[in-house]
Amino acid sequence: MKLHERLMEIALNRSFLIPSCEIYGTVGGFYDYGPVGCLLKRKIEERFRQFFIKKDGFFEIETCSVLPLPVLEASGHAKNFADPMIKCKKCEGEFKADELVKGVWEKPEELSKLLKQEKIACPNCQSTEIEPAGWFNLMFKTNVGPVEGNTAYFRPETAQGIFLDFSRVFRNHGTKLPLCIGQVGHSFRNEISPRKGIIRLREFTQMEMEYFFDPENDKIDGFAGVEHEQMRIMVAGSERMQKMSIKEAVKKKIIPNEIMAYFIAKQMRFYIALGIPYEKFYFKKMGKKDTPHYSRGNIDLEVETSFGAIETVGNAYRTDFDLSSHSAKSGVDLKVFIEKENGNGEGKSEGRKVMPHVVEPSMGVDRLFWCILEHTFREKGNGKEWEWFDIPPIIAPYSCAVYPLMKKDGMAEKARAVVAALREEGIDAAYGESGSIGRRYARADEIGTPYCFTVDYDTLKDDTVTIRYRNDGGQERVKISEVCGIVKENLKKGRVKLNG
Ligand code: GAP
Repeated sequence: MKLHERLMEIALNRSFLIPSCEIYGTVGGFYDYGPVGCLLKRKIEERFRQFFIKKDGFFEIETCSVLPLPVLEASGHAKNFADPMIKCKKCEGEFKADELVKGVWEKPEELSKLLKQEKIACPNCQSTEIEPAGWFNLMFKTNVGPVEGNTAYFRPETAQGIFLDFSRVFRNHGTKLPLCIGQVGHSFRNEISPRKGIIRLREFTQMEMEYFFDPENDKIDGFAGVEHEQMRIMVAGSERMQKMSIKEAVKKKIIPNEIMAYFIAKQMRFYIALGIPYEKFYFKKMGKKDTPHYSRGNIDLEVETSFGAIETVGNAYRTDFDLSSHSAKSGVDLKVFIEKENGNGEGKSEGRKVMPHVVEPSMGVDRLFWCILEHTFREKGNGKEWEWFDIPPIIAPYSCAVYPLMKKDGMAEKARAVVAALREEGIDAAYGESGSIGRRYARADEIGTPYCFTVDYDTLKDDTVTIRYRNDGGQERVKISEVCGIVKENLKKGRVKLNG
C-alpha cells in the first residue's frame, strides 16, 4: 500500500477527514474535516493569521463567495479560467488535455496533431480515437434571486473580493501605500478530474494576501532581515535544483522583486515551523505557459509527497492587472492619491495618483494540511507499536490530553478538574477514561498529541501528575499548578531551522 493510501485510511479512521455526503455516496472533490482535522486546519489558519498578517500589522477581511458575472469578466476568469478538454470517441470519457499531452498548443487543430503524433491513448479504454472537445470553464455557475439572467459564480479565488474592497480599506485605513490585505476562505473550482484525496478539490480553502504598493517603490520593510535566507529553486525548462539566497534570486531576476522575496522567506520559515522539512520543499519559477493570465511572474512552492511534487503556494506579481480591469469595467477610478513624503503637512497636499501594483502570495490550506500529515507521519518502532504523528505543538489538534489512571477513588474527578482548568485557558485538551493507560497514550500519539497528563494515586496525596512526552515516551512528575504553564510554553514550539 502506498503511503498516501495508508494515510487516507488513517485520516478517515482518526477523524481527520470525512468524505462529504458519505451516506449518499460521495461526490469527487469534496471533503469534510472531522473533529481532529478541524482542530488542525483551524490552527494552520490561525498560524497564518498570526505570522503573515498580524505580525506585520496587515489587515484581514472576509468577503462574499458569490460574485456577479461582471466581476469575473473584468478579472479574466469568465474567459480564461478554463481547461482544454479531450474526449474519447469510443467510451466518451472526457479528460483534461494537459494531463495527457505534454507540449504546447493554442488551437484545437494543433492539439489534434499532437494527440496523433504522440499516439495518446484514452486512459479508460486505451482507444487512440480521441479528439479535442473544447474548453471547460472551471467556475461553478449560479443565479442570484428568482429571475433568471442574474448570472453569478462561486469565486475561484479569494483574491477578487480583496481587489473589490481595496479602495474602501485604503480610504479608511490611512490612505497610504504599501497596504496589505489578507483573507482566509473557501474557493470553488469545478475541477474536471478531482483526485489525490484533498489535493485537487472542488471546494477548498485559501489563505491569500494582496500586497498593494507604489510601482515606483517595490521595496518592503523587513527584507534586510531575511535577505540571506537560502532557497531551493528550480527554473522552468531546467530540472536543476539550485540553492541561492533570496537576495541573489532578486538580483538574477528569478524573483521579480524584494516584496515577493520577503514573502518567500516567510513561507520557508512557516513551512519548517509547521513540520515540513527544508529539504522536502522547493520553489519553482514558472514558465510562460504555466503563468496565469494576470501575472508578470509566478513562483510556486512545491512539496515532495508520495503523490509526487505538489504545488501548495502560488506567488504572483499581478501588477495593476486586477485594479485596472475593475476600474475599466466598473467605471470607478481605483487609482489612489499618494502624498509626497516630507510635505509640510499644511495647505494643499502635494503628491501623485498611482494605480497600485500587487504581489500576491496565495497559499492553499488543504494541500498544506495533507503535506503536514505526510511529513509528520511516523512508522511503528523505537519502542512504539503504533503509527503516530510528530505534529509540532503549535498546530497539534489537541495540545495535550488528561487521563485518570483509573476511574475510581476520586482520580476521575481530579482529572476532570485538571482538564476543565486547561480548557478554561483556551487550551485544546482531550480527556479519556476508558481503556488501559497504555492504550490511551497510543491513541493520543496516533493523532499527534504532544503531552499527556496522568492523574494517579500520588496525585491524591501531593497534587502532582505524570507528564508523558509523545516523541520519546519519557515521563516525569510535575505539579498540577504548573500544568497550564507548561502547555502554554510548549505551544509556542514549532520546528525552526533557518538558512537551510
Ligand atoms: N489567487 C491565485 C490563485 O488562486 P492558484 O495557484 O490557482 O492561485 C493557489 O491557487 C493555491 O490554492 C494553490 O497553490 C493550492 O494550494 C490551492 N489550490 C488551488 N486549486 C486547488 C484545488 N483544486 N484543490 C485544493 N487546493 C487548491
